[in-house]
Amino acid sequence: MRIKIAAGNWKMNLTYDEGKQLTEEIVNSEIPADVQVILGVPAIALARTACLAEDNSNVHIAAQNCHHIASGAYTGEISIPMLKSIGINHVIIGHSERRELFNESDEFLKLKVDALLEAGLTPIFCCGEPLNVREDGGQNEYVKAQFENSIFHLSGEQFSQLIIAYEPIWAIGTGVTASPQQAQDMHSYLRSLIEEKYNNDIANGISILYGGSVKPNNAEEIFGQTDVDGGLVGGASLKSETFVPIINSFS
Ligand code: 13P
Repeated sequence: MRIKIAAGNWKMNLTYDEGKQLTEEIVNSEIPADVQVILGVPAIALARTACLAEDNSNVHIAAQNCHHIASGAYTGEISIPMLKSIGINHVIIGHSERRELFNESDEFLKLKVDALLEAGLTPIFCCGEPLNVREDGGQNEYVKAQFENSIFHLSGEQFSQLIIAYEPIWAIGTGVTASPQQAQDMHSYLRSLIEEKYNNDIANGISILYGGSVKPNNAEEIFGQTDVDGGLVGGASLKSETFVPIINSFS
């Protein structure tokens, strides 16, 4: 049985008080016992938000980025030992905004994935194609290359520690969601790649989330697809009125 995950990515949104209120509303909501909730909060709020969620074993707090080197002269960066020291166990890696706006390459992300696994943290590895690639029908090859360049060097044991998030860039923040069939097709393709590279157990055990304009009115159908194990949600994760229904969209 794969883990069902409703993950929120707050990106650069919410002041500390706004995030505190949202976290409290989520922590105090009825979360189904078999659903894991992960909140990707801004770095400045990680420590205090982790305290707010520490009594709810269904809720985990994730960083949105990290540096792969443990310490040193990297102004503005946050290291994995720092995250670990405040009880953070999940880190979003390779979000398309980090790739596009901050020039993070596949090779750089590979270093982060390695460092996280080495430290025993869970990378939430994001992948996904831009619109022009989708229009040309090249999405499978594009995402396959992201896997080959950043995560397919891992051992099977390491690979099974990952959470994958497929986020087609054209669906992020646009209100255009991939159709449930488009999500299913990509997730099933990724699972077949993982099976080919590793084995059936690893392919069937790994949670693959869909991200891109997930809303309360489409989550149930998307999460209902055979190979979709939940979502990585941006805009709709910023309010409990929209995120709590998404958490409850698993059948
Ligand atoms: P939206 O849900 O706002 O489209 O964002 C998706 C996303 O980028 C989550 O990481």
